[in-house]
Amino acid sequence: AYTAAPFVPHHADLGTLREAAAGCHGCPLHRDATRTVFGAGDADARVVLVGEEPGDQEDRQGKPFVGPAGKVLDRALDEAGIDPDESYLTNAVKHFKFTHVPARGKRRIHKPPSLRELSACGPWLEAELELIEPEVIVALGATAGRALLGPSFRVTKQRGTRLEGDASGPAHGGLIVPTIHPSAVLRADDREAAYEGLVADLRVAAELLG
Ligand code: URA
Repeated sequence: AYTAAPFVPHHADLGTLREAAAGCHGCPLHRDATRTVFGAGDADARVVLVGEEPGDQEDRQGKPFVGPAGKVLDRALDEAGIDPDESYLTNAVKHFKFTHVPARGKRRIHKPPSLRELSACGPWLEAELELIEPEVIVALGATAGRALLGPSFRVTKQRGTRLEGDASGPAHGGLIVPTIHPSAVLRADDREAAYEGLVADLRVAAELLG
């Protein structure tokens, strides 16, 4: 099976984890991606936000949520009253997965990670959460929800609620608030309503931070 486990150093700090993740060959996604996009933010962050995987811009720049979805997220966090300085941003999968549309030249189209790739990358997310021990984890979308809560997670049913992660799972019994992925706001027919829903869910997380 694919797994990042042999690449993850034990008893490491975030900087050491990040350096090790740059050389991860735990699944095939490293072959086509430009680089590993590890999480960004403070080791003592109070809230960790987990996305799906880096997008085109993140792959180019090496930082999570710097593209269009990141702009939506930044605005929503601000509106919900979550301080970016107290937040750590990461993804369930650390490499960009994409395909080329033949007629469209160099344009790279995002592809969702497979379940095998998602579980292969799990040890990185688990190591980040173990080090940071945030007060709240926000799962952004179905992929992050599955990574944190297992395959039965349903974003439409569970968004905006406070859930407890499995003691043996990557969240180690921590509090999880799921919501939609910010890129779903950009694809929605009613963007304003989708955005307001994202903000409302983030406020649930903000309240837990007090
Ligand atoms: N979408 C994600 O899930 N993560 C990013 O970092 C950017 C876009």
